[in-house]
Amino acid sequence: MTTFAVTAALPGRAPEMLAEAGEVRDVPGAGRPEREELLRLVEGADIALTMLYVRVDEEFLDAAGEGLRAVCNVAVGFDNVDLAACARRGIVVTNTPGVLDDATADLAFALILAARRRLGEAERLVRAGEPWEWGMGFMVGHDLRGGRLGIVGLGGIGARVGARGRGFGLEVAYFGRRESPHEAELEATRLDLDELLATSDVISLHTPLTPETQHLIGARELALMKPTATLVNTARGAVVDEEALVEALREGRIAGAGLDVYEDEPSVNPGLLELENVVLLPHIGSATVETRAAMAELAARNAIAIARGEEPQAPVPLPDA
Ligand code: DGY
Repeated sequence: MTTFAVTAALPGRAPEMLAEAGEVRDVPGAGRPEREELLRLVEGADIALTMLYVRVDEEFLDAAGEGLRAVCNVAVGFDNVDLAACARRGIVVTNTPGVLDDATADLAFALILAARRRLGEAERLVRAGEPWEWGMGFMVGHDLRGGRLGIVGLGGIGARVGARGRGFGLEVAYFGRRESPHEAELEATRLDLDELLATSDVISLHTPLTPETQHLIGARELALMKPTATLVNTARGAVVDEEALVEALREGRIAGAGLDVYEDEPSVNPGLLELENVVLLPHIGSATVETRAAMAELAARNAIAIARGEEPQAPVPLPDA
């Protein structure tokens, strides 16, 4: 019988699906388990269902032992998984693409609106009981209509953000290593990164974190952006050089930012906390009841397929071993 090691309490039908297909070993309680507990949990398991905060490295794979056949990440991102190490050991890796596209795009768009219209700052002012009155120059932000939305990575999530942008009257441009299949439907223009940064009013990041995209947006790139532009990151924190972003925001070199992800989560750069022109959220892009259940169920389907010797729905391509 297949043993599934499940590294967090899963929502929706996933627990029942896994229990019907094998023996489920899971963590007690709803919280995040300590590393030692995780390593004990995976010992001798056939398949591990992992969360994005679980570092799947040599230590984890050693702890699991030779029987481990698959790592099924309950996330679309898989930068927590050492793919080369899995490839060397013949371990299959899967993720959960597609099911979180709309929820994450909704949140990215909420950040775009919040940052462009200064919602965080305005709400803080009201809650603090500060005196305020309507004025021509009071809390003015920037229009969306008529501007350019620059999307870095026009995949599933980026395309959904683009569609929302079109609904708000933004023109869509994007940067990607190859032409996106969503280009035509969004009437999007493909640009190189520098031109995208220099001509967009909103830049939204939707690229996975890889060695190539680490600090893709640093001091040089931020300096290319318009002083009236906004940067939104719902992808992975380390795609942006956070120190450089703090400097750019502090000096007003860009108008603002909206962040759902951080370089050293769950820590947030103290420089960001001091600034009014950045909206800060705690990595909740996919955090809806429906989406989290769909993510868990897709991860369970991947795991069950592998247990049965079938092709999983969402395999992650591995480097050559
Ligand atoms: C993912 O699935 O990678 C997201 O960051 C989770 O919200």
